[in-house]
Amino acid sequence: MLFCTEMITFALFFKKNIISKDMVAKIQQLLQEIDGLQAASAEEVEALRIKYLSKKGVVNALMADFRAVPVEQKKEVGMKLNELKTAAQAKINTLKEALAGAGDTTADLDLTRTAYPIGLGTRHPLTIVKNEIVDIFSRLGFILAEGPEVEDDWHVYSSMNFAEDHPARDMQDTFFVEAHPDIILRSHTSSVQSRVMESTQPPIRVICPGRVYRNEAISARAHCFFHQVEGLYIDKDVSFTDLKQVLLLFAQEMFGADTRIRLRPSYFPFTEPSAEMDISCNICGGKGCSFCKHTGWVEILGCGMVDPAVLEANGIDSTVYTGYAFGMGIERITNLKYQVKDLRMFSENDTRFLEEFEAAN
Ligand code: DAH
Repeated sequence: MLFCTEMITFALFFKKNIISKDMVAKIQQLLQEIDGLQAASAEEVEALRIKYLSKKGVVNALMADFRAVPVEQKKEVGMKLNELKTAAQAKINTLKEALAGAGDTTADLDLTRTAYPIGLGTRHPLTIVKNEIVDIFSRLGFILAEGPEVEDDWHVYSSMNFAEDHPARDMQDTFFVEAHPDIILRSHTSSVQSRVMESTQPPIRVICPGRVYRNEAISARAHCFFHQVEGLYIDKDVSFTDLKQVLLLFAQEMFGADTRIRLRPSYFPFTEPSAEMDISCNICGGKGCSFCKHTGWVEILGCGMVDPAVLEANGIDSTVYTGYAFGMGIERITNLKYQVKDLRMFSENDTRFLEEFEAAN
């Protein structure tokens, strides 16, 4: 009797074992079959879905058989069964997507993708510095003014008190527009002073950035075009002290609170008295280095009180008003801030150079 019971148990075990072995083999075969499935239309995909994944489909039928699998093999067979279900679902989805994408060119566009790493451009270093200069003077009440780059002799030279035979008017310095001896490319932004004065009565307080042209051989230290910023303030009782104080504030905002300035007497046709302004070398802090030629000072701008002859030439009563003006090269200020050694770098459009200013943007 005992023997008999054992026999039955053994037979049952044997039978169950066969069931699970068969199932695994069947699943394996189905996995291969699913892998190779193809469909030419949405209807065919739907037919496949019904065959494998519907209530009466292949996967569900196997689920029913799964109940007969002995407990100790349920884990192994169950995992296989899950693999089959996932594979069937994935295949049906892939077939669906492939059909939906055919003929639709936007199908492989991922609209949720982030815009990065599409590189944004960087501002040009001269623009960065120009903006900074304009910003500092804006805070002091200067408003932006601009004038044309192609100018006439009057605004560039005559109204600015340049003598008829001044060397700056020479062909060597000035670009003339062919066939129009009176039309030139402006050689300084002081022409904008004249443009503003002829159209506005004081008080005038303007800051004028722009490009200027000079007939120079191109080298590391000179270029045939560069950039300047002009400042002009005209009102009653404007004095040289006002000028000095505003320039000190500018220098300290631009180069740091420890910056010192000094004014050296100079000459410009449009200002009287005139001066050139140095700042304490911002590389060595004024101790002396090769950059400042061991003087501790570097020149950054020209300035002075507007010559009464300039006020009169531009329609402003010099018995009532006084004013100051200043002008500086943006390349020069940029070199001081960023130590760009070669002026040509500014106009070569080498993105490796421009990208170095990413952090300053
Ligand atoms: N226009 C001069 C130049 O190009 C710079 C300059 C000097 C401008 C003195 C001024 C000034 O307004 O007062 O070199």
